[in-house]
Amino acid sequence: MTKTDAKQRVAELSDQIREHDHRYYVLDKPTISDAAYDKLMRDLQALEQEYPDLRLQDSPTQRVSGGLRAGFKKVKHVRSLLSLDSLMEESEAREFDERVKKGLGMDEGLFAEEVAYMAEPKFDGLSVELVYEDGVFTRGSTRGDGEVGEDVTENLRTIRAIPLRLREEGPPARDRVAIRGEVLIPLAAFAELNGKLIAEGEEPFANARNAAAGTLRQLDVSITGSRKLDCFAYEIMSYDAPARSPHPFPTQQAMLDVLRAWGFHVEDNVKLCHGLEQALAFHAHLLERRERLAYEVDGIVIKVNDRAVQTRLGMRSRSPRWAVAYKFPPREEITQILDIVVQVGRTGKLTPVAQLKPVDVSGVTVSRATLHNQDEIDRKDVRIGDTVRVRRAGDVIPEVVEVLKEHRPVGARRFELPIKCPVCGSEVVREGAAHLCTNGLACPAQLERHITHFTMRGAMDIAGLGGKTVKQLLEKSLVKDLADLYQLTPIHLVQLDGFAEKSIENLLAGIEASKKPRFDRFLFALGIEHVGDTVARLLADHFGSLAELREATPESLQEIRGIGPEVAESVHHFFANPRNRKVLDRLQKAGVKPVTEARPTGPRALDGEIVVFTGGLETMPRPDAQRLAERHGARVAGSISKKVTIVVAGPGAGSKLEDARRLGLRVLDERAFLKLVGDKG
Ligand code: IVH
Repeated sequence: MTKTDAKQRVAELSDQIREHDHRYYVLDKPTISDAAYDKLMRDLQALEQEYPDLRLQDSPTQRVSGGLRAGFKKVKHVRSLLSLDSLMEESEAREFDERVKKGLGMDEGLFAEEVAYMAEPKFDGLSVELVYEDGVFTRGSTRGDGEVGEDVTENLRTIRAIPLRLREEGPPARDRVAIRGEVLIPLAAFAELNGKLIAEGEEPFANARNAAAGTLRQLDVSITGSRKLDCFAYEIMSYDAPARSPHPFPTQQAMLDVLRAWGFHVEDNVKLCHGLEQALAFHAHLLERRERLAYEVDGIVIKVNDRAVQTRLGMRSRSPRWAVAYKFPPREEITQILDIVVQVGRTGKLTPVAQLKPVDVSGVTVSRATLHNQDEIDRKDVRIGDTVRVRRAGDVIPEVVEVLKEHRPVGARRFELPIKCPVCGSEVVREGAAHLCTNGLACPAQLERHITHFTMRGAMDIAGLGGKTVKQLLEKSLVKDLADLYQLTPIHLVQLDGFAEKSIENLLAGIEASKKPRFDRFLFALGIEHVGDTVARLLADHFGSLAELREATPESLQEIRGIGPEVAESVHHFFANPRNRKVLDRLQKAGVKPVTEARPTGPRALDGEIVVFTGGLETMPRPDAQRLAERHGARVAGSISKKVTIVVAGPGAGSKLEDARRLGLRVLDERAFLKLVGDKG
């Protein structure tokens, strides 16, 4: 690259970064991923390093990036709120460690010494400065440009996790103390908030970070107060230690303890690391738990633990030399919609699915994303050809978060769900937000999904009858409804690809073995709309037999706790349908007889308990143990919280058990649990 080229590139990169800063910090509407932004910044840094005289005084690399929005008073921070260099690769984290060692002259010794680091989650929220005078919260501000932020004191006061007065259990905080922390919205509260906004016809937030930022910077403080923001503190930026006494926090670890003692919400899930390897292990550990955390974390921050050593290492212009952010792979990426296709589900619901230009999102190639329904398409104004932000979280189907309208090409096409089912051509009707094919199980797409659901694990659990076999059975017209499965003979099955004597025998044995299903599993298997495994259990517990349930009225169904009008209507509708009644009769004739379990009477051993299972079980599969707990009155939860009363832990239990111990919950092994419910196992 010639110097002229470099000059032009520096100008381009600076413009782009400034623009993205504005969108991110001021408008809360970023249009590129963090990874892409970091790349721009690093490209610019590299060029400026190569050609130092091209570095302009107002280059984005020369200041802590950010911006201010009109409406809030601007305040100068007590201390500047620095930013962190961020890394994506393990090799870069190792380079950081090398630099630290070199800076401390540790690289020349004969014995490899290790640096003590504090590794903390990197909260994906909004950085704030909290100022206390004589222990009283007097002022709080957003990060702004790092030097000057917005005064959001009144908004911050509404956050319960921020003490309005420092507790006296900590060291004395005379004069002025400045604390740094991160404001965020727990994911459950985020989901609730977005649901509410959509219901009120408002625009939901694209992600939790934007929701936290948007909520904190409300001019109407009561809005901030009504949403459940949280705040984690992680740094005491300015503190006058009393003369001649030992400094109360010579390390980052001690500093976190002091913050905790002062009454701040401080993350417990941090790790004091002896050397970088342990910090890398913490990164891997947290990444593995990412989906189960209560709030959004986008990496870890690795900090030299000893504060005197921090001071020795010092600063660069934007960031300290003693800390880095080692980020997780991004979960959101930007890509393009090539087409929109329609899928027909088990209950006849038409789902629009965006076909995407394949893009890597946290290590997985994503080429399809759900658009949920027509209302969502309209609300987000999604068109074919649009550039969109897609998001992948855990095992959930990737979804389109938002359209980047400024990238919309001329001729981008609107999309409407069809008025005829794309599979069977029948009429499509609209029910609430859903578009439904009216052809029921005569629609091949619905029938295929219906039968696959019937045979799956947790339902009738017919071994050897997976999706491919079901497809062939339908294509060859060997099966037209659920009851036909029980009429299959070797003469039918031999027609299927890949079926020989042994596999035929196995499949027929599997079908035979499914004839005595547990009543609740049978109900779940029927694929009645709104009847998942939980509702199926409620129904099975309430109605002793299929015969009773078949005649239930919507009113009698609603008498069951946990069953509302919509579910009651759907169940009643299913059993009133003559076609369904016929299939049920034929199933019964073929020998399919659901088994009802005897209900325990009187007070139950686990009434009022909330139970979590973690790790392996030796005497029964996990769902059976959960059911056992429920039959004895317990509610089974999926994650650890303070509300949980019993944790049943088996071999291989990991982070949930750790969390349970930390919260001091009652932990039982399988034997003790079985004893409690009076079951010999
Ligand atoms: S320490 C000088 N610790 O990440 C040290 N920052 O990319 C300054 N952040 O602007 C920051 N969690 O808003 C630190 N445990 C943590 C953090 C954290 C999130 C944010 C912070 C900062 C950004 C840097």
